[in-house]
Amino acid sequence: MAIKYKVNEPITTDQFIDLLERSTLGERRPIEDYDCMAGMVSNSNLMITAWNDDILVGIARSVTDFHYACYLSDLAVHQDYQKLGIGKRLQALTQEQLGPRCKLILIAAPAANSYYGPIGYSQNDRCWVLEPGTQILTE
Ligand SMILES: CC(C)(COP(=O)(O)OP(=O)(O)OC[C@H]1O[C@@H](n2cnc3c(N)ncnc32)[C@H](O)[C@@H]1OP(=O)(O)O)[C@@H](O)C(=O)NCCC(=O)NCCS
Repeated sequence: MAIKYKVNEPITTDQFIDLLERSTLGERRPIEDYDCMAGMVSNSNLMITAWNDDILVGIARSVTDFHYACYLSDLAVHQDYQKLGIGKRLQALTQEQLGPRCKLILIAAPAANSYYGPIGYSQNDRCWVLEPGTQILTE
């Protein structure tokens, strides 16, 4: 199977939602909120996609300054194409777009938590998340 990889190839919101559903990552993303999903697609600034002919089979969608930090927000591979090396290739191609000091940072889905260590990531227990709606306590 010849999978082709593309850098910043435009995709539609529907294609994005469909892929997340087919990968199972849709269970952990607000796919019912079309505006949010559309904003995720249009405001990311580094998107590597994997294609089998014209079928979108994988995505690594990131937000980055290209020099210091790259937040890999969504990594998803279509269920029929998983464990073929596509996920690793999407991350390697993401890394290729980044400068030599730039870290890849992500929050793993619980079901994928053990995926990242063996492929080279280090775990950081000082990662913090401010959930939407939580106000910074200033006093
Ligand atoms: C997790 C995911 C992106 C991995 O991509 P992939 O193309 O299937 O995996 P790769 O081919 O790159 O890597 C294969 C290796 O990773 C392992 N692996 C794959 N998915 C894994 C998972 N969820 N947990 C632990 N290990 C996993 C495989 O066992 C294989 O190991 P091996 O090389 O020792 O045999 C993909 O399975 C996926 O989309 N899963 C559902 C959505 C998800 O959880 N995304 C991650 C959000 S943080």
